[in-house]
Amino acid sequence: MGVTLQPSTMPNAPSEKPVVVGITGASGSALADAVIGRLLASDVPVVTTASSAARMVWREEMDESFGSALERWDATGAFTFHQVGDLRAPIASGTYPTLGMVIVPCSMATAAAVAHGLADNLVRRAADVCIKERRPLVVVPRESPLSAIHLRNLTELAQLGATILPPEPAFYLRQRTIDDMVQFVAQRVLTALGLTDALPANMRYEGPRT
Ligand SMILES: Cc1cc2nc3c(=O)[nH]c(=O)nc-3n(C[C@H](O)[C@H](O)[C@H](O)COP(=O)(O)O)c2cc1C
Repeated sequence: MGVTLQPSTMPNAPSEKPVVVGITGASGSALADAVIGRLLASDVPVVTTASSAARMVWREEMDESFGSALERWDATGAFTFHQVGDLRAPIASGTYPTLGMVIVPCSMATAAAVAHGLADNLVRRAADVCIKERRPLVVVPRESPLSAIHLRNLTELAQLGATILPPEPAFYLRQRTIDDMVQFVAQRVLTALGLTDALPANMRYEGPRT
């Protein structure tokens, strides 16, 4: 079941600066699709790059090919894609203005690399840029169970100012489907990036039911 964007969930003002979306090879390709869809539906330009593992996972998890998804996003006119090896892309430089970045889903390999400044591909370098420029960085990690290594790296990222936003269902909202959960996490990402003030009514906890 899709969720229609309501006026209160739209960004505070139309933006010319893009949000960078890095897609990595953790499970949860649908989360990347939902985040990009919500940003574009909210008139926020999107610049995306995806690791080769991300494409592999996408093939396992999605009905639509990654290439078709790129064409669908591109049709909005507000979408740019760069190959993950293209370290000459503008998002590799702090001089290119952006509203921040989300890594969704974020593999433990990418979490480790970013936590330690290993900027050896475009996802990792764009995140490195966000950290050094003190721009919002939202990390949607996906792994279970989490080892002490994973937890240490995520702690490091949190201490560097990143928002760690695990893709967890809001059980208290009685979400019934994976799509409910995916849309909820995607909306939380927009909030964490500072693009919206409020969650739509069906995504808010408003006290006891009785
Ligand atoms: C189908 C599939 C699912 C995977 N799921 C996860 C996952 O949930 N979390 C994770 O950290 N790695 C997962 N991996 C392993 C990563 O893809 C692998 O560590 C890869 O090197 C990550 O590279 P990247 O961070 O550059 O995308 C998965 C791999 C495959 C093929």
